[in-house]
Amino acid sequence: MGSGTVRQAVAQGSNAWARVFALVYDPLLWVGERAGLAALRQDVVGRARGRTVELGSGTGLNLRYYPGDLDELILTEPGAAMRGRLARRLRHGRRRARVLDASAERLPFTDATVDTVVSTLVLCTVDAPEQALREVGRVLRPGGRLLFLEHVRSRSPRLASWQDRLAGPWRRCAEGCHCNRATGELIRACGLELEHAVEASWHAMPPIVRPLIAGVATKRES
Ligand SMILES: C[S@@+](CC[C@H](N)C(=O)[O-])C[C@H]1O[C@@H](n2cnc3c(N)ncnc32)[C@H](O)[C@@H]1O
Repeated sequence: MGSGTVRQAVAQGSNAWARVFALVYDPLLWVGERAGLAALRQDVVGRARGRTVELGSGTGLNLRYYPGDLDELILTEPGAAMRGRLARRLRHGRRRARVLDASAERLPFTDATVDTVVSTLVLCTVDAPEQALREVGRVLRPGGRLLFLEHVRSRSPRLASWQDRLAGPWRRCAEGCHCNRATGELIRACGLELEHAVEASWHAMPPIVRPLIAGVATKRES
């Protein structure tokens, strides 16, 4: 078998897994949602105002929590399989939103034109989180807000070392998710002002993804 054929087989395998992952995503999260994640989503996403952009919307589990009076809701999602599930959820619901094929590292919006950016369980997966956070800062208007809910590296050295040990296999199973990423520190360092942040636990999920942070970071008015 030539190297081109091997590459093609690997690409086909990863596309097939991406489709399976999108299909099983909601059932896999079901218990964790009921055990508290849904309430955290509601608290975070319910703060959205004005022109709102969501990063990596996945299957659209946040949709039901957006306030009804947003100026505009734009859902970005680079994964074709996830985008398919998202479009399906939108077709079957009453919420109106625009879906865009875009990655967080390259948002298709001009500078300072967005009031709210929402990121839930996404900064663990993006390839370049610092670049994604720079993009968030670029597109937000002064006074605009990043609303986040992310699973993060544990403060417990013991759990963090398990996160490091299991990071490789977890990333392969969970479509690129880094269970050991210190996303809280990245948000603190990205130039937005951390207005509010709480730590929580993602109950009923494997311990390596249980530590959560949720909060609001604001772009300074200059
Ligand atoms: C764990 S899922 C979270 C989905 C959804 N935000 C939620 O809260 O259920 C991670 C999502 O990030 C998306 N993603 C992966 N790489 C990305 C990138 N570079 N930019 C934006 N989203 C990305 C994936 O396609 C996937 O939908």
